[in-house]
Amino acid sequence: MEQPLLSMEGISKSFNGIKVLDSVSFSLRKGEVHALMGGNGAGKSTLMKILTGVYQADEGEIFIEGKKVSINDTEDAKRNYISMIFQEFSLVPTLTVAQNIFLTREPKNAIGILNDKECIAKTKELLKELEVDINPTDIIGNLGVGYWQMTEIAKALSQNAKILIMDEPTSSLTKKETEILFNFINKLKKKGISIIYISHRMDEIFQICDRITILRDGKKIATESCDEITMETVIQHIVGADLDKAFEWKERFYSIEGTPILEVKNLSSGTKVRDISFRLYPGEILGVAGLMGSGRSEMVRAIFGIDPIDGGEIFVKGKKHTIKSPTDAIAAGLALIPEDRRMQGLILQHSVKENIILPILSKIKKGVFLDERKANKIAEQFVERLNIKTDDIFKTAGLLSGGNQQKIVLAKWLANNPDILILDEPTIGVDIAAKTEIIDIIRELADSGKSILVISSELPELLAVSDRIIVVHEGRVVKELKRKEIDSEEVLQHAIQGY
Ligand SMILES: Nc1ncnc2c1ncn2[C@@H]1O[C@H](COP(=O)(O)OP(=O)(O)OP(=O)(O)O)[C@@H](O)[C@H]1O
Ligand SMILES: [Mg+2]
Repeated sequence: MEQPLLSMEGISKSFNGIKVLDSVSFSLRKGEVHALMGGNGAGKSTLMKILTGVYQADEGEIFIEGKKVSINDTEDAKRNYISMIFQEFSLVPTLTVAQNIFLTREPKNAIGILNDKECIAKTKELLKELEVDINPTDIIGNLGVGYWQMTEIAKALSQNAKILIMDEPTSSLTKKETEILFNFINKLKKKGISIIYISHRMDEIFQICDRITILRDGKKIATESCDEITMETVIQHIVGADLDKAFEWKERFYSIEGTPILEVKNLSSGTKVRDISFRLYPGEILGVAGLMGSGRSEMVRAIFGIDPIDGGEIFVKGKKHTIKSPTDAIAAGLALIPEDRRMQGLILQHSVKENIILPILSKIKKGVFLDERKANKIAEQFVERLNIKTDDIFKTAGLLSGGNQQKIVLAKWLANNPDILILDEPTIGVDIAAKTEIIDIIRELADSGKSILVISSELPELLAVSDRIIVVHEGRVVKELKRKEIDSEEVLQHAIQGY
C-alpha cells in the first residue's frame, strides 16, 4: 500500500472537559479528493483546525509523507504544504487577481508597494499552468464568487500547498460555477494535489470525491471508497439511524380562491429586481427557484424594506402597505430569515437561549420580569426539535459549530410565529437530518395557517417543501409551476436554465 501523503492518528480534543474529537484517524492520498462528512457539530471543522494549527490536539499525531510533524500555528501548516481555502474573506475585492495572489508577500519594491509587473507576469504563468481562464488584471470584486475561489486556490498553490481544505465550497456558487470548480478540482487531482472536501450536499460528494470519512459525535464512523458505499449508508452513518423520509413531498390542501395574504405587483428595486409579481395564499408554501444572482435575495430584501423600492406595490391581506423599513415589514406580519444568517441574525457573544428568545421577549414576560422558566422551555424545545448540538442552552452561541449557529437563527424566527415567513436558503450549511426537520417544521407552520415563501438553490429540498414554485430570472418571474406538475428535479432544473 502506498504511503499516504497525510495521516492523522488518534486525534482527541476536548473543550471545557467535553470531548469533541475522540481518537479520530484520517488519511489522505496524493491526488485524492477525500470527503469529510458528519452532522452539525460532529467535529469536522475542529479536526481541520487542528490540521491547520488553529487548535492543538490533546492527543494524537500528524504525519506528512510518513514523517511526524507538529503543527502549532498556521505558519507550521503552510510549511507542511497545508492550506485552507476560505470562500471570500481573505481576498480584497478592490484589488486585482494578481495583487490578491501576491498580497502580503514578495515581490515588493523598495517602499513595500506591490510590484505590479512582476506580479502580473507570475500570476499569468500560474493561471496558465492551472488552465484557469482568468485575467490577472481583473478586479476581484467584478468576478463571480466561483472565480474568487479559484483565485484563492491559485494563491495557495503559489505558496506550495499540496493539501487543500475546502469547507462547503459550493454553498454560494451557481450550478455552472460549481461545474467549473469541479473541472478545476479534477485538473488539480491530476497534478497530484490532494483535497479534503467538507460538504452537506450528498450529490456532490459522489460526483467529485474518491473516498469519504464520516464523523459522528466526535468519533470516526467509517472511511470508504465512494464506489463502494451507497448514499443511504452514508446518511445512515451521519445520522446514526435510518432516515427514510428524507425529502419526501406530500401534497397539501389549501385554498387559492380567496384574497392572497401577500401580493406583490410589478416590484422593482435597484438593478436586480425588475418586475416581480406573485401571490402567496394563506397556508401556502411558495418556493422561489432561480440561478444564483437572479435577483431572488434582492427581491425579498425589497419586500422586507431593507432595500428601497423603486416601483410596484405590496398588498398584505388585500390591503396596500408601504414598507420602507424592516420595522414596517414586521408590523405588517412579515418575518425574513436572511441568507447570511451568521452575519445578520446572531449575537455571537450571547447564549443560545438569549438568541432564540430575543424576538419574543415581550411575549414571555411575567410582570416586568422575564418568565425564565417559560423562556428556558421554549429554548429547550427548539434545541431538541432542530437537534442543535450544544452542551446546554446557556452556551455562548459563537462556540457552536457553523451549522448549529444557523439552526439557532432559524429557531429564533420560528419561535416568533409570524403570519408570513420568508426564508432565504433555510437549509444552507445544516446537516441532512436538520434539513428534513426544517422541511417538516415549514410544513407544520403552513398547516397551522401560516404562509411561507422559501428561496432555495437546493432543488431536492425545494421540491420536497413547495406547493407551488415560481422561477425568477433576471429580476422577473418567468414561470409559475404547480408542484404537482413537476415530476423530477430535471424538469425544474430545465425551467431554471431555460431562460
Ligand atoms: N472553541 C470552542 N469552545 C467550545 N466548544 C467548541 C469550540 N469549538 C468547537 N466546539 C464544539 O465542538 C463541537 C464540534 O464542532 P465543529 O465546529 O468541529 O463541528 P462541525 O462538524 O464542523 O459542524 P458544522 O457542520 O455545523 O460546521 C461542537 O459541539 C462545538 O460546539
Ligand atoms: Mg464546521
